[in-house]
Amino acid sequence: MNVAVVGLQWGDEGKGKVVDLLAEHFDIVARYQGGHNAGHTVYRDGRKFVVHHIPAGIFHPHVQNVMGNGMVIDVEALLGEIADLEAIGLAWRGRLWVSDRAHVITPIHRWLEAQEEDFRGHCPIGTTRRGIGPAYEDKYGRRGLLMGQVTDGTWRSHVKWLWDRYVRTFGPAAASPERRAEWDRFQAVLERAETYLADCVTQTDIWLRDRLRQGARVLFEGAQGTLLDVDHGTYPFVTSSHCSAGGISIGLGISPRWVHRVFGVSKAYCTRVGAGPFPTELHDEVGQSIRERGAEYGATTGRPRRCGWLDLVALKYACDLNDVDGIILTKLDILDGLPRVRLCVGYTLDGWPVEGCPVRADLLMRVQPIYEDWPGWPESTYGAACLDYLPEAARAYIRRIEEYTGRPVVLLSSGPQRHETAWFHSPDEILRPVL
Ligand code: IMP
Repeated sequence: MNVAVVGLQWGDEGKGKVVDLLAEHFDIVARYQGGHNAGHTVYRDGRKFVVHHIPAGIFHPHVQNVMGNGMVIDVEALLGEIADLEAIGLAWRGRLWVSDRAHVITPIHRWLEAQEEDFRGHCPIGTTRRGIGPAYEDKYGRRGLLMGQVTDGTWRSHVKWLWDRYVRTFGPAAASPERRAEWDRFQAVLERAETYLADCVTQTDIWLRDRLRQGARVLFEGAQGTLLDVDHGTYPFVTSSHCSAGGISIGLGISPRWVHRVFGVSKAYCTRVGAGPFPTELHDEVGQSIRERGAEYGATTGRPRRCGWLDLVALKYACDLNDVDGIILTKLDILDGLPRVRLCVGYTLDGWPVEGCPVRADLLMRVQPIYEDWPGWPESTYGAACLDYLPEAARAYIRRIEEYTGRPVVLLSSGPQRHETAWFHSPDEILRPVL
């Protein structure tokens, strides 16, 4: 059976740990969108590792890892990530496969993104400034550079053509000595990647379809979160890819029929980095304490994350959009000790109740949350390994999440380490093949 793990919020839900935890039950872990805007954190033997492009399955020696055609790749950053894996003695060759049709992020993409963010003045998207959006723009503009061109050597003429086009389109600023130096460095990186990555860039969709037909079990690893999906998130405050489960088929070149189960990861509260609507955001000392206790600083950019109460309206929207089979709840322990916890169960707009989740940013920015107050729990839930260890108030909080969303909470992550996990249903039950 093949399983997808997607983020149900604005990213940073803890997908890295979940993928690492589940990967032992799978043969292949495949990423289908995004790039090194993601930061998936994995703890192994007490040490912390963050992967940005590379699927979190790489830490399991038996797991093959795919970076799908739906991804955008900063080749220099990818080489750096590979070097970090080599530094810890991790064998990656023969276990990492990059789609020949994943797109390459160029230095001009990063520059254009900085220009665009500055141009937005007081209302930037708050992107990671890694060139993700402009790389997807070039993809959909049908002029992008493909990973397959990097390893078959045709990148040289394409890169020259791209440079000429950038200079013609964006004028002398695109051709400044600084840009030119970055471009020369970029070409040197491609020169190196041409041979270094030659045997891992391949037609991954055919590779994956073959393996699926042979019965391989695949774990699909989402990056970012549903509310950052370019079509279904809080547009325009979104990333430029399809983070929700719908992106899997296109981003890997497989039929949607191969995705048998979808699990969604959500924190027990909400966070967001970058700008955009966040109805339950806390600007007080409770928000500050959640940020400090939850170490809510971006894994990729180090930016402080905005923190707030769990928004069940948005969570239900994400659960329904992905039709999740279950919720994986993370970081409940960060709420330990609060005298009261709040759950957003509805919105009003201009004083009137709102039906569902108006996901469009201009509307969502104007809604007022309706809260239910629930008693907190003084006990620690950190490291809880089964449901029975949880205080009744924490169980009631979880039951309310299940009741509102209509989805079971199947697993609770109660700390960053692998063993700090409570399965509410056995892994066998959750991963049991569906007929
Ligand atoms: P971009 O993906 O760099 O274009 O950024 C667009 C928006 O998505 C910004 O608000 C970023 O902060 C947010 N974002 C992108 N990647 C992640 C992630 O992995 N976790 C959380 N937020 C992200």
